[in-house]
Order: sequence, then C-alpha cells, then structure tokens
Amino acid sequence: MYRKVVEQVPVRLAEDEMLLRTRWVSVDPYLQGIALDTPVGDHMGADSIMEVVQAGPAARFAVGDLVQGFGGWRSHVIGNGGSRLWQTGTFPMVFPAYRRLDRADYDEAMPVTTALGLLGGPGMTAWGTVEKFLDVRPGQTVLVSGASGAVGSVVGQLAKHRGARVIGTTATPAKAGWLEELGFDAVLNYRDGDDPERLAKELADLAPDGVDRYFDSLGGTLTDAVFGMLAVDSRVAVCWQWGSQVGGEWAGPRLLPMIMFPRTLIRGIFALEWFTEENWSALRRDLGALVRSGDLRYRQTVHRGFDSIPAAYRSLYADRSASRGKVLVEL
Ligand SMILES: NC(=O)c1ccc[n+]([C@@H]2O[C@H](COP(=O)([O-])OP(=O)(O)OC[C@H]3O[C@@H](n4cnc5c(N)ncnc54)[C@H](OP(=O)(O)O)[C@@H]3O)[C@@H](O)[C@H]2O)c1
Repeated sequence: MYRKVVEQVPVRLAEDEMLLRTRWVSVDPYLQGIALDTPVGDHMGADSIMEVVQAGPAARFAVGDLVQGFGGWRSHVIGNGGSRLWQTGTFPMVFPAYRRLDRADYDEAMPVTTALGLLGGPGMTAWGTVEKFLDVRPGQTVLVSGASGAVGSVVGQLAKHRGARVIGTTATPAKAGWLEELGFDAVLNYRDGDDPERLAKELADLAPDGVDRYFDSLGGTLTDAVFGMLAVDSRVAVCWQWGSQVGGEWAGPRLLPMIMFPRTLIRGIFALEWFTEENWSALRRDLGALVRSGDLRYRQTVHRGFDSIPAAYRSLYADRSASRGKVLVEL
C-alpha cells in the first residue's frame, strides 16, 4: 500500500549536499524485499536517474550533472549522494554512492535511460554472471529462467553469442516470439508453481543432453525440474528465487544430492560486488559493441509521470503482457 505525500521542504543545503530532481525511476522485482523492510512513513526506495539542481560548495557533483543512485520514489532528493547502509531482515547491504553519468557515454542507440537497464544494474547482473561465473562454452545447453526480463534477455543473448544453445522461459506465452527474435533457440512456458513433472518432460525434449548452465532467477518447481537434468560440470547461477521470495514456495535445498554426480558448481549472484568503475567501463564497452554490431538487442518499457510509478511497479507482478525488457518511469 502506498500513499503519495506532497510536502514543501525548505532547501538549506549543507556544504556537501545537493538538491536533485528525479528524471527517471526504475522499477525492479527486488523492490519487493526493499518494500518489506521499509518502515511505514518512509519513502519507497528505487534506483533512479537524477539531475543536480543546486549544489553546496563541497558537493561531489555540479549543477546540471546527471547522476544515478538509489533516490527512490521521490520527485526531488536532498543529500550528499554518499553510500548508505541498508539493514535488511537477513543481511546488511549498502546502497552505493551516486555515480555521475557522462553524457558522452550515451547516444541514440543507448540513451541515458540505459543507465538503469542495459548499462545499469540489470545489465551488470547479466554481464557479470556470464563474464565472471557461468563460463559458457560453444555447444553447451544454457537455460535462462525469466528470459524476457531485463536481466534474462541479456544473459540469453550473451550465452548465444558464446556459441551456446539457449532455452528461455516466459510466463507470458505472447513473449515467446520476441525471445525467438532475440535468438533464443527454444522457449519454455513456465509459471510459478507449474507441475515439475510436466516441466521435466518438456525440458527433456528441449535439452536431451541435460542442462550445462542454468541462470536461475525463478527457483520453485522449475528449479526442481532442472536439478534432475544437470549435466556433468554444470553451473548454476542463483540470481533470485521468485518461487520462494514472492510465491512463498520453499523448494530446492532437498535436491542437493543431485549436484554430486554432475559436480555442479552453484553460486549466489549479488551484482553489487561488480559495481566498480572498471566494470562499468567494461560493461559499456562490451555491451555497447554488441548493440552497435546488432548482436545484442534490448527493449525498455517506459511509463510516464510520477503517479504511474505504483502501476509500473505492479506491472512486474500482475499482467506483464505489455512489458518488454526494462520497465522505467519517466517523471
Ligand atoms: N542477485 C542480484 O544481484 C540481482 C540483481 C538484479 C536482479 N536480480 C533478480 O533477477 C530477477 C530478474 O530481474 P529483471 O530485472 O530481469 O526482472 P524483470 O524484468 O521484471 O523480469 C522478470 C522475469 O521473471 C518472469 N516472471 C515473473 N513472475 C513470474 C512467475 N510468477 N512465474 C514465472 N516467471 C515469472 C517474467 O516472465 P514474463 O514477463 O515473461 O511472464 C520475466 O521474464 C529478479 O527476480 C530480480 O530480483 C537479482
């Protein structure tokens, strides 16, 4: 439940503070956890792009700069843009310091809004997972769950670029054609809670030699089905567990015996570890080159106006048929 609050706030900036105007807000599924940890009366957190409107003499950015940071569902923000500790229910996490977006890094092919998608957190999650962990080899079978999303659509295309055979899942059958356009070799319809036996049967047809690499953002019965099909030396990237975190369906750990014979490597993904200047440059370089050569395609679904933020957020969970790729709100 959300309530819009309109307040007139006197602007008295400390030496290192800035007044920032929010230009774009990102809505992401992980906000579900943030929402549960947000005290009633506090503003809702979210990744955003903001423009500096006023700046104190010791502020880290100048008037007119565009910055990306965890500004939240707010039209204006006052702060110094430093990192902030966020104690979740289970572990401490840090929202990174705001980073300045150099307008020269963006163009028509990759506008500045991609700093919230392809060239932002979702892109870094996908690139980091493929680049630093999955070790995708030509001819392997890669299964990408949540393949139509901002992260999964990039993971799948990067795996394809490395010569793998890529299968993607969607819970919205209308998106299957789009995944095929992106180069996915096969599409599996999967919705949270589907029968694992039916899934195992369909997967056995799509991946007769088993699954070499599994990008897991959904968990649940899909993961149950995949664990019975892991190939020798397989790898599993656990990026999220929609089935348990949203669906309350705690599946999975009892299947750990199934990783012994295939010697599967399972790794948790926490993309913040890759948020370094060096990686941001590498991300722009690598994904930028692929977009320009036509080897990587991405989509953004942009809602308009502050008041559309809750509906944009809801569109991640309820009827997703109209969304493709990264969902954003332009203020
Ligand atoms: N660990 C990390 O560091 C990290 C970083 C970033 C993101 N993540 C997580 O990665 C996941 C993907 O992020 P994203 O930005 O790509 O999200 P997104 O754009 O909203 O995509 C979500 C995907 O999940 C699918 N999906 C949603 N609900 C489902 C359900 N009930 N059953 C089956 N499939 C369902 C959607 O399917 P359709 O729309 O095709 O139906 C879509 O493909 C999220 O869960 C996010 O929290 C983790």
